[in-house]
Amino acid sequence: MQIRAFSPDDETGVDTLLKAAFPGPGEARLVTALRAADADTLELVAEDHGQVVGCVMFSPVTARCDDGSERHGVGLGPVAVIPEHQARGIGVALIEAGISYLTTLGVPWCVVLGEPDYYQRFGFTAAASWNWSWAGDPDGQFAAAFQVRALNGPPPRSGVASLHYHPAFLGV
Ligand SMILES: CC(C)(COP(=O)(O)OP(=O)(O)OC[C@H]1O[C@@H](n2cnc3c(N)ncnc32)[C@H](O)[C@@H]1OP(=O)(O)O)[C@@H](O)C(=O)NCCC(=O)NCCS
Repeated sequence: MQIRAFSPDDETGVDTLLKAAFPGPGEARLVTALRAADADTLELVAEDHGQVVGCVMFSPVTARCDDGSERHGVGLGPVAVIPEHQARGIGVALIEAGISYLTTLGVPWCVVLGEPDYYQRFGFTAAASWNWSWAGDPDGQFAAAFQVRALNGPPPRSGVASLHYHPAFLGV
């Protein structure tokens, strides 16, 4: 199994695996929309014996701070592993490779919307601890699932911030 950058030849394989890993076609559409909008900051695949068995996407996220400034980072997701290959460390390998590469690029932070039990192993903590919240969740219903991790430097002193994914992220 190897982790490598997505290439256009992987398009069908990624689409098939996203449709197999998630209950509906939303995540497959989302990944296609992010690519079409040039909002695919980083896309990695896991390949095993010529088959795409896992994938992860990172896309741009903007923090709009209460002092009027904007900060730019990335959002992790979707991440998926084909059901027959799950629980073999592929998801962890994809996310660690992505985080490591984005860190070397100087990206300051990464957010994720997901299961805290899974993402805390990568160092993610509740974004609320930075006073950050997801703009798509005005009622705070997903506050526990919205997490952040500093990649370069300490957590920014931004005060309260509202986090916005790329328009293509929510437009599918
Ligand atoms: C979530 C997912 C990407 C993890 O990939 P994976 O290759 O199966 O996971 P790994 O083998 O790297 O890691 C296994 C660990 O993750 C845990 N785990 C897997 N899915 C989890 C979930 N939804 N919630 C909490 N923990 C989870 C396992 O319990 C295991 O924990 P352990 O190491 O303490 O035993 C994969 O299961 C998947 O594609 N799921 C369906 C799609 C999905 O829900 N994607 C995430 C939301 S965007």
